This record gives sequence, C-alpha cells and structure tokens, in this order.
Amino acid sequence: MDSGLRDAVVLVTGASGGIGTAAARAFAAEGARVLLHGHTNTARLAELQAELPHDPIALTADLTDEAQVERLFASAVSACGRLDAVVANAGIWPPADEPIHKMSLKRWEETLRTDLTSVFLCARAYFRYLDRVRPEHAALVLVGSTAGIFGEAGHADYAAAKAGLSYGLLRTLKNEIVRLAPQGRVNAVCPGWTLTNMAKPGLQDKDGIRRVLQTRPLSKLARPEDVAQAIVFLAAHRLSAHLTGVLLPVAGGMEGRVLHKFEDVDPHAI
Ligand SMILES: NC(=O)c1ccc[n+]([C@@H]2O[C@H](COP(=O)([O-])OP(=O)(O)OC[C@H]3O[C@@H](n4cnc5c(N)ncnc54)[C@H](OP(=O)(O)O)[C@@H]3O)[C@@H](O)[C@H]2O)c1
Repeated sequence: MDSGLRDAVVLVTGASGGIGTAAARAFAAEGARVLLHGHTNTARLAELQAELPHDPIALTADLTDEAQVERLFASAVSACGRLDAVVANAGIWPPADEPIHKMSLKRWEETLRTDLTSVFLCARAYFRYLDRVRPEHAALVLVGSTAGIFGEAGHADYAAAKAGLSYGLLRTLKNEIVRLAPQGRVNAVCPGWTLTNMAKPGLQDKDGIRRVLQTRPLSKLARPEDVAQAIVFLAAHRLSAHLTGVLLPVAGGMEGRVLHKFEDVDPHAI
C-alpha cells in the first residue's frame, strides 16, 4: 500500500533511541526525508544518518530546554524548507520503583519536564511553524504509554506525564491544529513494554516478564518496529486521513487484568 509519504519531511524526536530508530527507518522506507533528533547519543545518530536513504539530517537538542527546542525547529525548517509531520517520541522512564510516599519532588519534576513539558515545547514550535505556513495537511504523532492508560505502581511521575499528553494535550491539540492546517491531525500511540534499552531494567526479572505477559492476549512484548508501523500509519494522511484525537495502544491487547495463569506464560516468548 502506498502511504503517500514519498518526499514528505518528517521530524522524529528521540531517533537515537529504540522506538525512534525504528520509526526513522520505517519513514525512510516509505521514501520520506527524515530529520533525526537525538540528545546525548550522537554516535547512534551518525550511524543512522549514514544508514538511511533520502539524505537524512541529524540534529541534537535537549527538549527540556525552551531555547534548544526553538533552535531545533528553526534548523529543521531551514534545512528542508517544510515540516510535514512531527513525531514527539523522546522520553525517559526512571527505572527505580518509587511509590508516591517515597518519591522526591526532584524526580517528579524531572520526569514531568522530560516527558510532558518537552512535548508541549515541540508541539508549540510545530504549531508556530503551521501558523506561519498554513499548509493544508499536517500530522503530529505523540508517543504515550500504557502507563498513562492503566497507571503504573512505583511510577506515578511517568504515568501522570503520559496520561497528560495522551488525554488532555492530545484532545486539545486535535481541535487547535485545524485552525492552522485544515486537514491537520494529532494522534497518539501508546506502547506497552517494548524491547528497547529503556525497558531493559524491567526485563531482567523473568517473573516480572511473566506478570507483564499475563495481561495481554498476544502473550509477547512489542518490538520497536511494531510501534514504528503504528506511528507511520498515524502520520500518513493517505492511510489515516479521518483519524484525529485517536489514542492507539500498541500493547498486544493489554488490559488492566490478568488473562493468563502465571505458570502458563513462557518468559522466553518475547
Ligand atoms: N520501551 C518501552 O517499553 C516503552 C513503553 C511505553 C512507552 N515508551 C515511550 O516510547 C518513547 C521512546 O522510548 P524508547 O523505548 O525508544 O526509549 P530509549 O531507547 O531510551 O530512547 C529514548 C530517546 O529519548 C531521548 N531523550 C531522552 N531525554 C531527552 C531529552 N531531555 N531531550 C531530548 N531527547 C531526550 C533519547 O536521546 P539520547 O539517547 O540521544 O540522549 C533517546 O533518543 C518514550 O517516550 C517512551 O516513554 C516506551
């Protein structure tokens, strides 16, 4: 199926990470020109830039810093002349289990800043660009998490940040974008456990994996490519023209309840 993304210009934040790399590859495979954003892992960005076709551009920015986000979007537009879609994917998941009565304000604020305020800054910069250019089409894809849907004990900071972007921010921006781009759309993918470096600390414990797999009918974890395909689908006007404000879980049908007996789950089936 032709996604219509040939020659589209797409910015992927966190392209130096697991899901971002897979998304960048998937967009490039559709013929898009990808703007690869990363923060500290410049080596990974350089490798990806060398690997991908269609002359990708690598850009770095700390997305918690207002001035750096403004510079990132200015550089993206000046390098490519336009910005057809943005994937707000960068984020952190502090691995330590800290119930709220033990969580420091510092951790709470750092997670909210990295996982929610950074998305506000990127969305604002993209919408300012749309306000200047007034294109017919535009697409913003947010990356939430099942933690934002079901909650995650020991990770109230992360769950609250992801819920904020997947509900209030998403549903507000889908109404605002059409004032700037009449066919503009804002959607979110919400991955469950996905096999990237972020998830590694949580995957050391085989009993922990079993408990995760008990909650999904497709008793396996996601690969970054599974999430990337959903991102491409939501970014491509030709594939998802009438979808906006949609929160798409990519989590094997995960529910907030146990579906499999502990002993029936194979921890190696990931
Ligand atoms: N993996 C999972 O199980 C899972 C589940 C649900 C949701 N998600 C969400 O999926 C998204 C991607 O996660 P992933 O698994 O691919 O994680 P990952 O491999 O750890 O990648 C995280 C990316 O975010 C970037 N980043 C982190 N802090 C940043 C900052 N302050 N400024 C700019 N960039 C920053 C990193 O840049 P550098 O490495 O260059 O510093 C990296 O590119 C995240 O939003 C995450 O919350 C992941």
